[in-house]
Amino acid sequence: MPDLNIKVGLIGKFDMLKFKNMKKVREKAIQAAPANEVSGVFAINENAKALHPDFLELVIDRIIDRGGAQAKTFVLKRADDAPLPYFRAGQYISLKLPMDGSFVTRSYSLCSSPKEALNGEYAITVRSNPGGFVADRLLAEKKPGDTVITSGPQGFFYYEKLRDEKNVIGLAGGSGITPFLSMARALADGVEDFNLTLLFGSRDEDNILFRGELDEIARICPKFKVVHVLSEEEKAGFETGFITAELIKKYAPEGEPYSVYLCGPEAMYKFLKPEIEKLGLPERLFRRKLIDVTKTPWECEGYPQEAKGKQFSIKVKQGPQECTIPASADEPVLVAIERAAIKAPSRCRAGECGWCRSRLLEGTVFIPQENEMRRWADKHYGYIHPCCSFPTSDLTLEVPGEFF
Ligand code: FES
Repeated sequence: MPDLNIKVGLIGKFDMLKFKNMKKVREKAIQAAPANEVSGVFAINENAKALHPDFLELVIDRIIDRGGAQAKTFVLKRADDAPLPYFRAGQYISLKLPMDGSFVTRSYSLCSSPKEALNGEYAITVRSNPGGFVADRLLAEKKPGDTVITSGPQGFFYYEKLRDEKNVIGLAGGSGITPFLSMARALADGVEDFNLTLLFGSRDEDNILFRGELDEIARICPKFKVVHVLSEEEKAGFETGFITAELIKKYAPEGEPYSVYLCGPEAMYKFLKPEIEKLGLPERLFRRKLIDVTKTPWECEGYPQEAKGKQFSIKVKQGPQECTIPASADEPVLVAIERAAIKAPSRCRAGECGWCRSRLLEGTVFIPQENEMRRWADKHYGYIHPCCSFPTSDLTLEVPGEFF
């Protein structure tokens, strides 16, 4: 054992003694206190509530049509124009939408700068998704003045200087551009500080979402650069084909380390996974936005093929209520719950936030590896995230009540 020879002054000794006795002093104070409920308003609780609200009631202030890209930006405010909870560029909010007598949640990345939250504005962009459950109805039915219920900002897809390199290569596909647009705006506003080179994949030039905004930020902000990659069109001034390891290396800063962030559809993630592995990056330098739960669970590794296409039943227990509902092996448990108009909590719908955490009392489920983010204790004690769990037998499930 080396002799550290640490000298502690008299004041330091008193401090250490005070620290040593802290537990005893606190226990004494607790024992001496009356057994009444703590009352009053505490600044720390009020601040926490303001930053992390259970829900927000927002009004659609204006809607911006994105033309050829078949998308609309919804600008949301409080009715009284008060500031909104601050967020990190790359985070999302979850919308709670009434739907055919029930309600569903959908998460959308904030595409505005965090600075705008302090001016009382959030912006999200919704792109058409023919055959989907929510997006096209939102696009067709919502109008300025309508109210929407949302969560506060959530998620971990943001720059973290303790983990990331100063240079970030962003890989975006389709509407996966939105968290990167927020980052680009944050860089231009000076509320984030890193260098972002964005490789943005679109089908053709007409389909580039936010092209004007991205090019303009790249013109005025030296920390942001955008490269458009067209998969179905060959044109001067654009890269052609798909984003590959070679293309990433071409635009990566020479001789300098970098982080890679990815946000795009499931097919893009599947294609890019082996390409990113070729870069040999340490795991901490690769971030991906939440992976939407697959629509084809039977294609996932480890799926019990005998369950494919089957119908099961789920006994749902919620407080004193109990009912049995039908469920398809091809859809997550949460979808069956929503179809049955049972109010159950959810936010990310991708296995990350834990908001939908429920206790599986009987039966078995399949969880795709990409969405398996449960804590060890939850796995051990039989909790699942219904948003990304597919039934592979009849189930009995204890579901929490809805909080927002
Ligand atoms: S809704 Fe986030 S884990 Fe299920």
